[in-house]
Amino acid sequence: MGELYKAIKSGFKPEDIVYNSPGKRIRDLHYAVKNEINCINVDSFYELELLNNIAGELGLRASISLRVVPEVTVPTLQTGISRSKFGFEIGELLKAYRRALELKNIDVKGIHAHIGSQVSDLTSWENASKTIVRIVNQLYDSIGLKLEHINLGGGIPVDYTRTLIEEDRELPTYYRTNFDVCEIAKTISDNLRNLKYDVKLYIEPGRSLVADACVLLTRIVNFKERSSGERWLIIDAGFNVLPSARILRWYYPIVNASRISEKHNVRFRIGGPLCDAEDVYHDVEGEEYNREKLPRYRCLPEKTSVGDILAFLHVGAYGPEVLMNFNGMLKPPYIMILRSGDIKIIRRSDELNDLLLYEEF
Ligand SMILES: Cc1ncc(COP(=O)(O)O)c(C=O)c1O
Repeated sequence: MGELYKAIKSGFKPEDIVYNSPGKRIRDLHYAVKNEINCINVDSFYELELLNNIAGELGLRASISLRVVPEVTVPTLQTGISRSKFGFEIGELLKAYRRALELKNIDVKGIHAHIGSQVSDLTSWENASKTIVRIVNQLYDSIGLKLEHINLGGGIPVDYTRTLIEEDRELPTYYRTNFDVCEIAKTISDNLRNLKYDVKLYIEPGRSLVADACVLLTRIVNFKERSSGERWLIIDAGFNVLPSARILRWYYPIVNASRISEKHNVRFRIGGPLCDAEDVYHDVEGEEYNREKLPRYRCLPEKTSVGDILAFLHVGAYGPEVLMNFNGMLKPPYIMILRSGDIKIIRRSDELNDLLLYEEF
């Protein structure tokens, strides 16, 4: 409901909005039906019946797709296999579409599959589009169902390594794309040619649109040198600001914005300010077992010191949306730099609100 609200407030037309979640509350569904959006992607038999009842109560109809897990495994996190929590299994689809066609307040519009985020190999796209084409053709052959659209979800990858300056370690391949994303379009459209009738294709290119639109600026607040010679920098942004660095061990390139023209060739360990030992920008557990996903060190200029500003690049996706107040940290502000060079404040720091809140305690 929150995402729908934001989309509508930002000026997206309801007929351009598709709504997805494996756990939609009654009020979420109410809101989606009332706003007459393009499509609600239904995730289970239970939700299908619930949605039909809600649409009936409102005297409206709900346009739907069914989300299917096409049993395609991807290099990152799995959202398209039956071991995941999402959608219908392939074997349930015929029954589910039959039921959806019987329901009085439901309009069947399409089919949806989302196989993962940052899907960085072409084979996964090939497998997903092949499977969806097979399913859509089978539905047509067996019950004469003609869908209006196929929604292949998000997953379009970003090359996080294009500003790579770490030299010491191979990063997992899923941080980079070794192909032009246009090849994804070609792979999908080549497979869609095997459909028995024409459909619209929907794509949800979230990460790939916003990732490199955002840079995180953080200040170095502490420094230490271990007896081993390792140099540590402690910065004022931890996983309260970039939780994906901790939870997914996500890689973001780091540069010293205060010394951007100096050579980045000296190794530093980088940690955040939180009480948690995993609040660091390398892979603590992986290091123990020699299975690291992240570089052990980051290369920065020799003279890097307390007070310098480090810039984390390509943090626009799963960045500003997931800030948290862990350890009583205040969420940072974020600002937009317009093409004209003007600055627009998108979100002020929590400072004032939070301090008022703390005073109440
Ligand atoms: C249905 C659906 N669409 C889109 C996305 C976003 O994909 P991306 O990370 O490629 O922006 C997700 C994320 O998991 C999703 O579940």
